Amino acid sequence: MKETAVGRVEISRAALVHNIREFRRLIGPRRKFLGVVKANAYGHGIVEIAGIAVAEGVDWLGVNSVEEGAALRRAGIEAPVLVLGYSPLASLEEAVVQGLRLTVYNRETVARLAALAGRLRKTVRVHVKLETGTWRQGVPAKDLTAFVRDIRRRPGLVVEGLSSHFANIEDTTKHDYPRRQLEIYRMACRELEAAGPRVPVKHMSCTASTILFPEPGFNMARVGIGLYGLWPSKETYLSCLLDQKELLALEPVLSWRTRIAQLKKVPARADIGYGCTYRTTRPTVLAVVPVGYFDGYDRGLSNTAHVLVKGRRAPVRGRVAMDFFMADVTDVPGLKLEDEVTLLGAGGRERITAEDLASWAGTISYEILARINPLVPRIVV
Ligand SMILES: Cc1ncc(COP(=O)(O)O)c(C=O)c1O
Repeated sequence: MKETAVGRVEISRAALVHNIREFRRLIGPRRKFLGVVKANAYGHGIVEIAGIAVAEGVDWLGVNSVEEGAALRRAGIEAPVLVLGYSPLASLEEAVVQGLRLTVYNRETVARLAALAGRLRKTVRVHVKLETGTWRQGVPAKDLTAFVRDIRRRPGLVVEGLSSHFANIEDTTKHDYPRRQLEIYRMACRELEAAGPRVPVKHMSCTASTILFPEPGFNMARVGIGLYGLWPSKETYLSCLLDQKELLALEPVLSWRTRIAQLKKVPARADIGYGCTYRTTRPTVLAVVPVGYFDGYDRGLSNTAHVLVKGRRAPVRGRVAMDFFMADVTDVPGLKLEDEVTLLGAGGRERITAEDLASWAGTISYEILARINPLVPRIVV
């Protein structure tokens, strides 16, 4: 795919492969490694990332929706794919046809899957999600055994996995809440297995818990943000230091680049952009950048972010509009039309990180990455 008017997202294969190897080392050879490629692989491009991940030994892929799973199958990816998000009843037939694993926690979903398994003569593998305190998806612990029993009595359905998800691991260096969640999982799992056969695949970890609590009881780790070369949070990094754990050397995978659409001399005391929120304090050279909030460059970056031009930082001036924003390039000599602008990534000796953009926009790196519009071409370099 070629660069378009709004530029390109570059995906570093070397960085991705490096991060996969770091996590494989941590997860070990015996536990399964699920690469979380939902949300267009956190904005990196689901098909591009999944292809490299599977070639590099990632065992399973995690998607949000049946549509994302089907896109992987259409791209020829045959690895096990687990749908982590909600699968509407109307999407279940496609899931069964594509051989996707589904996260289940509603009896209606189970009944519909059983009917489809019979009609289509397929085996459907499900992962039951246990509620341990995130209060998002999941079956309450007290109902788990009966829920699983109901699935097991239905021909064509196989309970392959038991999963849960941490609520409060990235935001703090105090980890008593996730430890309580682990305890709820263990107790519910013990009770379930006392009443019937073992569940083959047990998984609860995300990047932060894979780094902080490599729990022996689980045999699959679900790694998202770490694959893309980012720490989940400062607190996770700090927890690692406090616990004297090894600090993984992660390498950011994504860079986002575009080109100058116009260079413009502006007098002092000119009001820039919508709402006239910035007034120049000197004769200024502005670079008009053809990217806006439609492309995922957050409006919260107005008057706060920097971009890189010829390895130098240039501040964003005025509001980020739908398709454009302006940067002050007065101090960067020798620029011309269509010179490169780095919105995220390295340029010369400088680097703008997803964490920088997140703190400028008042959000987290996950959101900065995941919201880069899928229409911006992803180019593997
Ligand atoms: C169910 C589930 N598992 C795993 C992950 C991966 O989390 P992380 O990106 O922090 O590794 C997510 C991410 O939101 C998730 O929703």
